[in-house]
Amino acid sequence: MDAWRDEYEQLLFLQDRSIGFKAVIAIHNTSLGPSLGGCRIRQYASDQDAVADALRLARSMTYKSALAGVPYGGGKAVILASPDAGPRDALFRTLGKHIQKLQGQYITGMDLGTTVADMDTVRQETTFVTDTSGSLGAVGDLTAKMTAYGVFLGIGASLRRLFGSESLLHRSVAVQGLGKVGYQLCRYLKEAGARLTVTDLDARLVRKAAKEFGASVSLPANIMAVPCDVLAPCALGGVLDDGAIGRLNCRIVAGAANNQLAEERHGDKLRKRGILYAPDYVINAGGIIVTASELSGGDAAQAKRNVESIYGTLTRVYDLAEAQSLSTSAAANRLAENLFRA
Ligand code: NAI
Repeated sequence: MDAWRDEYEQLLFLQDRSIGFKAVIAIHNTSLGPSLGGCRIRQYASDQDAVADALRLARSMTYKSALAGVPYGGGKAVILASPDAGPRDALFRTLGKHIQKLQGQYITGMDLGTTVADMDTVRQETTFVTDTSGSLGAVGDLTAKMTAYGVFLGIGASLRRLFGSESLLHRSVAVQGLGKVGYQLCRYLKEAGARLTVTDLDARLVRKAAKEFGASVSLPANIMAVPCDVLAPCALGGVLDDGAIGRLNCRIVAGAANNQLAEERHGDKLRKRGILYAPDYVINAGGIIVTASELSGGDAAQAKRNVESIYGTLTRVYDLAEAQSLSTSAAANRLAENLFRA
């Protein structure tokens, strides 16, 4: 964890014992603009785990924003959930007060475990917050929808790279996770003529997708090994580890989940197996692009046009990887670093 000293601009550990509030704000880099990244609330095994999570997430936001071409840096907040914590409102108001003190160096929004109502509470203390009631991202779940749209376009760019055509007709796609993004992705894919195999821990979602999309069903434990053209991880991070990569039976991995590679070296392992990997933070940038559109006063139509840039960005990543014999994840990192370190 010592690496944070070299790389990060700020790390704040916040505490108010009277209401059981503990939170971390990490600001990775603001050279392209104020740091932007949601706030998650979850239980952590230790304070160190919470700090490590905030650091890792803030860093990936810098890379995501840089390659998405939005004028923001990377930051993240995490609230440590605990049975001793006070009322939820008090926790988010306290976080809002701390964000206000940062005077715009960090802008928060929704993430794992947080809701529009939580962001409305933060809004009572600071204007440096997105995803509040009526905001562009919150209405009709536009953030998830545009994330799915970006992944859909990225799958097209990946198919073109491997097969010379982005057509999904008769192509098979296996989707892991049928939540807000995964389910919407299935809609786009089905409309374009793909054959789907789906899985989720929630049997109700699986039944719904099987009926609506005529999808085949896989057990959650088997999805990584399903024979298909494209595997789209849309559930958890860390799914591409040594074991899973060995079992893959696809040509392309392209999905919405954050931090899909268990470790950086797994990007190279995918390359050696001849599997084209769409780096997660490039292909799932639809959400951040919607947030950036909201902050600059744009509307949904503008946001959608901006999301379409994902196709070209991913193609540039693939070009660089090919030209320099790099993994696609290393190529994406290099392109992003050139932008925020310039
Ligand atoms: P969600 O919480 O709505 O859906 C996740 C789904 O995955 C749930 O239905 C859950 O039951 C399922 N799931 C969990 N573990 C599973 C397993 N082992 N096997 C099969 N299914 C499993 O989340 P959402 O919003 O759809 O996000 C999905 C992924 O995309 C997450 O990794 C998230 O960080 C990432 N992401 C989401 C964005 C958004 O706008 N919602 C933006 C960018 C990335």
